[in-house]
Amino acid sequence: MQTVQEPETVTDAQVAFYRANGFVEVDNALTPLELVAMQEEIDRIYRVDNGGLHTAEHGSPYRKVLDQRVNIWRDNPVVQAFVMLPRFAEMARRLAGVPAVRLWHDQALVKQPGDSKPTPWHQDLPYWPMNEPGALSLWMALDDVDERNGAMSFIPGSQRVGALPGINLVDPQDIFAMVPKGELTGTKPVTARMRAGSCTFHNGLCFHYAGANQTDRPRRAMVIIYMPDGTTFNGRPHVVTEGMGLQPGAPLEGELFPLLT
Ligand code: SIN
Ligand code: NI
Repeated sequence: MQTVQEPETVTDAQVAFYRANGFVEVDNALTPLELVAMQEEIDRIYRVDNGGLHTAEHGSPYRKVLDQRVNIWRDNPVVQAFVMLPRFAEMARRLAGVPAVRLWHDQALVKQPGDSKPTPWHQDLPYWPMNEPGALSLWMALDDVDERNGAMSFIPGSQRVGALPGINLVDPQDIFAMVPKGELTGTKPVTARMRAGSCTFHNGLCFHYAGANQTDRPRRAMVIIYMPDGTTFNGRPHVVTEGMGLQPGAPLEGELFPLLT
């Protein structure tokens, strides 16, 4: 049997691809053992319904888009070990082209089977209370993904459009109608069909989408969101910063936003 070595970091070609397109795929980013550990832990967390902040209750329309838990790492050692993997942080740092990155938060994103809805085209940065751009997400497939179960798609180069208003993920506006005329003409979406254990990174300004899960099994993904060290709070309310007493302009730092590189 041929074994595939997990990459320690991204290649120069992957960095160049990310800078040009706003996203990049990294295959076999997890070892088979790491993958099984994460699959089992996410299943356990959802089965016993604990771990992380819940962002939608049963019956909420958002749950048909994403059954989501946020910041599981704070009290779960298995997820914490995954989120803090130095090789992932180093990939994020190199892609962002910054001296160091911090953790913004993690997200388990499950598309449950049965009346699943697409994740509409959107950018992430408009939801995050950050003054500076540069934050990026690692999206780890914990199941094989394709068009039938919610693989991610991206619009190459859309990060250059800049920040648009945040899209309502349940009752979405058409993000393409917000793009100034002439920008993005001729660009086509790219769908990242991947095996479980492979991942994508995407810039917080890159347009992305995932179709509904039309299969009879959950689509499980685990996301780590990194931000350049020195990123500051812009005062917008967000579930992760709620109750922290942060003043606008304050750096997002300290043990809740740990330095990872
Ligand atoms: C998804 O997993 O369906 C969407 C992820 C994202 O919006 O970053
Ligand atoms: Ni997103």
